[in-house]
Amino acid sequence: MDAYEYMSSRIIAQLAGVTKQYSLQGDVVHVLRDIHLSVYHNEFIAIMGASGSGKSTLLHIMGCLDRLSDGSYTLGGKDVNSMSDKQLAALRLNYIGFVFQDFNLLPHVSVYENVALPFLYAENDSSQSDKLVIDALKAVGLSHRLKHHPGALSGGERQRVAIARAVVNTPKIILADEPTGNLDSVTTTEILSLFKRLHSNGATIILVTHDHDVAKTANRILYMKDGRLSENE
Ligand SMILES: Nc1ncnc2c1ncn2[C@@H]1O[C@H](COP(=O)(O)OP(=O)(O)OP(=O)(O)O)[C@@H](O)[C@H]1O
Ligand SMILES: [Mg+2]
Repeated sequence: MDAYEYMSSRIIAQLAGVTKQYSLQGDVVHVLRDIHLSVYHNEFIAIMGASGSGKSTLLHIMGCLDRLSDGSYTLGGKDVNSMSDKQLAALRLNYIGFVFQDFNLLPHVSVYENVALPFLYAENDSSQSDKLVIDALKAVGLSHRLKHHPGALSGGERQRVAIARAVVNTPKIILADEPTGNLDSVTTTEILSLFKRLHSNGATIILVTHDHDVAKTANRILYMKDGRLSENE
């Protein structure tokens, strides 16, 4: 294996010439423009950038929650573009943990059930998934809130449930959209040490943040500006 082949084999996710646009009442809105990005196994990347620059859109595409308009996206060696919705759902289950910017918790079920959600469609042994759910909630300091519904939690607690749900299936890639946006500094430190632990256990992490101190946790910082991604601020 030569150096080029070795580096290629270390790539877990790769975007080439990715664009995303929407048509809105006759206008075309360009949200992502010609994005090129190679993510290596076990990288920890932070993405920063102004509001509206396209960070969430990029993360949703990388998390197979949305489709690109043009270009190509390869995840774990597979061309995501050509996969069916069903195949994408399976890929998400095995590969991806996603922390949504607005949490996306189910309001009418308990904390426990929200975190157990990724297992609902998988044929998991329930005694095994029970332990994983409890462990994930312990890791975010919420094992005393199993029966609460999201409406009976604080904003920061809801965010921590969203993080527990994202990591419960030990995903290879964790995509986190402002995971510390609503947390105080103590909880932010706790959540960041959780991400660091997941990273040292082998996960690849991509985290969107507005906070320079949070971004410094990462090994590489990228900047989004008007739909373009760059290494420079
Ligand atoms: N469905 C849509 N139709 C048209 N425009 C959209 C659509 N979804 C997103 N946009 C636009 O795309 C741009 C980027 O949105 P995105 O949510 O990716 O920004 P962001 O960088 O995550 O911002 P923030 O930091 O505020 O979360 C915004 O200007 C938004 O209005
Ligand atoms: Mg956003």
